[in-house]
Amino acid sequence: MSALKLAVIIGSVREGRFGPVVAEWFTEHARSHGAFEVDVIDLAQADLPLALPAAPPALEPNPERPAGMVDLTERLAAADAFVIVTPDYNRSIPAALKAVIDWHFTQWDAKAIGFVGYSGASGGLLAIEHLRQIFGELNAHTVRNYVAFPRYYLLFDEDGRLREPEEPAAAALAMLDQLQWWADALVAARPVAAVA
Ligand SMILES: Cc1cc2nc3c(=O)[nH]c(=O)nc-3n(C[C@H](O)[C@H](O)[C@H](O)COP(=O)(O)O)c2cc1C
Repeated sequence: MSALKLAVIIGSVREGRFGPVVAEWFTEHARSHGAFEVDVIDLAQADLPLALPAAPPALEPNPERPAGMVDLTERLAAADAFVIVTPDYNRSIPAALKAVIDWHFTQWDAKAIGFVGYSGASGGLLAIEHLRQIFGELNAHTVRNYVAFPRYYLLFDEDGRLREPEEPAAAALAMLDQLQWWADALVAARPVAAVA
C-alpha cells in the first residue's frame, strides 16, 4: 500500500511566531511513524487575502484564486489527511487559518484531520474545538486524539527541544495511528459518490 499523503499546516503567520518549532517537532514524529509522506505547508508563504470570492463555495467550489495561492491549493488537494498546528488567538484560531479554510472546499472533503495545539493556559484547545466545528461543515473528519502544549514556553528549551519529550511523543503517536486509520478508510471510500 502506498504512503498516505499528510499535509502539516502551520497556522500562525506572525513575525516571531513559535508555530514552526512545534511543527518541526511534530513533523519528525509524523515522518518516523512510517505510514505518511509528509508535506509541511507554511501559510506565511502563501497569498491569503481576507476578501473572499463573490460566490460561496457550495455554488463555486473552485473560484479563481490569486497566483500566490495556486501552489498551496494544489498541495491541499493532493493531501489525504491534515494535521493543523495552531495556537489560540483570543480563544479561537488565527485569521490566516480561517482564510485558508474558507478559500477552499473540495480540498477538505472526506479527509481526516488531526491537531497539535499550543498557547498560554489553554494549550491550543480552544482553537482546536472551533476547528472541529468548522471542519464538520466541510465534511471532513476530525480525529479524537490531539496533542496540546499549554504554557509551551515552559515545555520547550531555547533550542526548541522538549524538556520532557515522552508524554507528547506518545500523544503524537496515538493521534497519528488514529489519523492513519481514518485516512485509509476515507481514501477507500472517497471514490464512492457521497450522499448529498
Ligand atoms: C492575538 C493573540 C491572541 C492570543 N490569545 C490567546 C488566548 O486566547 N489564549 C492563550 O492561551 N494564549 C493566547 N495568545 C498567546 C499565544 O498563544 C502565544 O503568543 C503563541 O506563541 C502564539 O502562537 P505563534 O507564536 O505561533 O503566533 C494570544 C496571542 C496573540 C498574538
